[in-house]
Amino acid sequence: MRFGYFDRKNREYVVTRPDTPTPWINYIGSGNYGGIVSNTGGGYSFHKDPQNRRVTRYRYNNIPMDRPGRYVYIRNKDTGEYWNPGYQPVQKKLDGYSCRHGLGYSVLTGEYKGVIGEVTYFVPDDKNFELWFVKVSNTRSIQQNLQIFAYSEFCFWDAIMDQQNVDWVQQINQGRFDDGIITYHPHHVSDNAAFFATGEKVSSFDTNLETFIGRYRSEGNPIAVEQGACSNSISYRTNGVGAFCIDCDLGPNEERELVFVLGFAEEKSEIRKDIKEYLLPENAKAAFSRLQASWLDFTSKLSVETPDEDMNLFVNIWNQYQCKTTLNWSRFVSLYQLGLGRGMGIRDSAQDTLGVMHTIPAEAKEVIIKLLKCQYTDGRAYHLFFPLTGEGGQGDAPVKKFDWYSDDHLWLILAVNAYIKETGDFEFLNMEVPYNDKITSQTVMRHLDMALEFTNNNRGPHNIALAGRADWNDTLNLDTGKGVAESVFTSMLYCRALIEMIEILDYLKNTDMIKKYSDMYEDMKNAINDTCWDGEWYKRAFDDNSQPLGSKENKFGKIFINSQSWAVLSKVAENGRANESMESVEKYLNSKYGVVTMYPAYTEYDTTKGGVTTFPPGTKENGGIFLHTNPWVMISEVMLGHGDKAFMYYNQILPGKRNDDAELYEVEPYVYCQNILGKEHPQFGIGRNSWLSGTAAWNMVASSQYILGIRANYDSLTVDPCIPSSWKGFKATRVFRGATYYIEVQNPNRVCAGVEKIIVDGVETEKIPVFEAGTEHNVVVVMK
Ligand code: GLC
Repeated sequence: MRFGYFDRKNREYVVTRPDTPTPWINYIGSGNYGGIVSNTGGGYSFHKDPQNRRVTRYRYNNIPMDRPGRYVYIRNKDTGEYWNPGYQPVQKKLDGYSCRHGLGYSVLTGEYKGVIGEVTYFVPDDKNFELWFVKVSNTRSIQQNLQIFAYSEFCFWDAIMDQQNVDWVQQINQGRFDDGIITYHPHHVSDNAAFFATGEKVSSFDTNLETFIGRYRSEGNPIAVEQGACSNSISYRTNGVGAFCIDCDLGPNEERELVFVLGFAEEKSEIRKDIKEYLLPENAKAAFSRLQASWLDFTSKLSVETPDEDMNLFVNIWNQYQCKTTLNWSRFVSLYQLGLGRGMGIRDSAQDTLGVMHTIPAEAKEVIIKLLKCQYTDGRAYHLFFPLTGEGGQGDAPVKKFDWYSDDHLWLILAVNAYIKETGDFEFLNMEVPYNDKITSQTVMRHLDMALEFTNNNRGPHNIALAGRADWNDTLNLDTGKGVAESVFTSMLYCRALIEMIEILDYLKNTDMIKKYSDMYEDMKNAINDTCWDGEWYKRAFDDNSQPLGSKENKFGKIFINSQSWAVLSKVAENGRANESMESVEKYLNSKYGVVTMYPAYTEYDTTKGGVTTFPPGTKENGGIFLHTNPWVMISEVMLGHGDKAFMYYNQILPGKRNDDAELYEVEPYVYCQNILGKEHPQFGIGRNSWLSGTAAWNMVASSQYILGIRANYDSLTVDPCIPSSWKGFKATRVFRGATYYIEVQNPNRVCAGVEKIIVDGVETEKIPVFEAGTEHNVVVVMK
């Protein structure tokens, strides 16, 4: 069953039924002020940091589902009937409904008895507030006397405290109204305020939740809307809302536009001045056009025309869009990750930069600097940090012997290298950045060196990397206190990081460091090959009793995905082991909805393995399809020259392909989700935890840089495709260091891989050079 469709021309996903299996959401804002908007208007807003500066409330995992939100009620004064353009929360059966999720905005449109209500939510010009642009049209040839109620429920800014100390929060809350602006702030804070405002003539308002909703009622039947007026309540305690009632009598076929503004002000005396221009509908519309133009610019750095329409849709629009969202919010705030406690992940954000390097490298650099500041002087890193307070830490997993994850610091090397390849900014390596003690500063190069040293200095009995609290797989908690558990994956990631450092140093002609890193690489590679090959694939880890995981010897978890793909990514696998490992992945781990993390899944809780065994078989890391890992399989297949396989893996998890199957898939078909229940689960195929996943960045990398083969290099642009043999070629436009490259790939002999010749502006060359910014060039790549 379908719940909507892709509007390719308008670059929107259009939800056509409100009763989606889960809320299908979108993000507004840029990472500064932002929010989540569901297809029925549910969701919430935050400023800079959803834990420490939450603007509006959301009741997670609750009944009725997906509430509250940014609600607009339309009431007919003559009949007393009321409804919402987005269906929720009143749930009146509408004569028409749609939700258009676009890049940075969502438009909810509903129709009831000849009235069309349309609400567009977006953040204008990266401000600290969002606009609700409301259009109400009377399509009938009679007068309709209406009222518009606009409503949102404030949260105490510290969202944990909001849940935790209800008496305090309720006693200190203060809501005020002054000429169209409702402010909300705790009693003891005088400068900051959350606010809700309008330039319309307000016929009544409420700042107090209990007054607006009424006793034993809900957002679905608020007393204020039912009786047709708010009570002009001032909140001296209890819970805060922003609610306005505006009279809106419409003559035959008349329409009216209204603007509401919801936001956060660091200085509340400035609110009126800051929002003034946006209160006029004309200005709000102009801001909306600027928003659309900025997203067009964002996605214009790469666009492709391949024979696969869905791939085009994702590479050109939706995957790029999701990458920006994951850069903004890491794994911090979605409908599944609640913006509480978790913060921005170090490993996560480092990987997220890879997905936006071609679009906004300067922003990616800023994120990388923040992450480098999260490193300890010994090279390891925090696991997470909070953007508003700058505090960092290791999260709340139980600590046995080690208070660190074995991989966090290593991802920084991949991020820095990708940044330098995209920009040529080698100077970055010499920039001094403080460590998390805020006293010691060292160059970026030294930070990266320390990261490698940390892993090198923390090895176990097999001479490979210690596992610490976990590696990329948060749930493999092998350390029971002895501190000897080891991670094959981290060892491979370390090898990949070393290769990337050697590449940079080669370019810088730093032979001493190359020697050091080559020795470190060989040492680790040999250790892995000597002790971790299992016969048909690589083992995954050793537990604290030095027993293997991911071995034929195991009853459960005989084979894991990551130690196969990373054996290829790290070039550790040799003597046919790369092909053999990848064949084992296909044979034992693949399924029609994607490759599972491991097989067979654990059936019982096992303290020597930890979190992974808390999940039922086929769920998440325990044999689920953890999508983040799938692009690593695609990249590995590309590295082995297998274009058909790489594309098969790409295709089978492409969300757009699940659009017609959404009743089973359940989550949004326009973005990757984090996991799909695996083949050992009775509900195989259901997607979970949409939006915030490393899947976004890595699929961007796998599809554009590996399958299509367009990747930045220190001194050139590489075009080295590995595509399905059925393709006769493809076209792409790529902006690289400010110059635009119009690329045409020809595949006359229908091969998967291999380049015969490269023609740049009519001349055959070895490399595609870096051109002056602002210039345009034609590149033809003919495959073998
Ligand atoms: C979640 C975490 C990520 C981790 C992954 C696998 O996505 O955010 O950091 O790598 O799970 O456990």
